[in-house]
Amino acid sequence: MGWSMASYRIYVCHNRDCRERGAAQVWAGLQREIVLRGLENDVELIVAGCQSRCEWGPNVTVHPGATKYSGVDRAATRAIIEQHIVGGTPASDYLFGAS
Ligand code: FES
Repeated sequence: MGWSMASYRIYVCHNRDCRERGAAQVWAGLQREIVLRGLENDVELIVAGCQSRCEWGPNVTVHPGATKYSGVDRAATRAIIEQHIVGGTPASDYLFGAS
């Protein structure tokens, strides 16, 4: 495979703590929101390792910008895709350290 042409890359932590906190559901939720909006060519989901904030997981990081989201649940996956990917503004309610 060559370089991805996706504008955004979402790194979904799959290390142990985030797996136990629902990384698989986060992955599925993000994928669903991406497909619903036809954004498959704009966003690449990436299985990632530990992002060093395990106790706040599940964690994801969106690039470019290295925007860190924590405690990602179903509502957060929708907000990340709608607000950050489509709208271009980070989903502030779910940023690491926001709550
Ligand atoms: S296990 Fe996910 S941030 Fe460490």
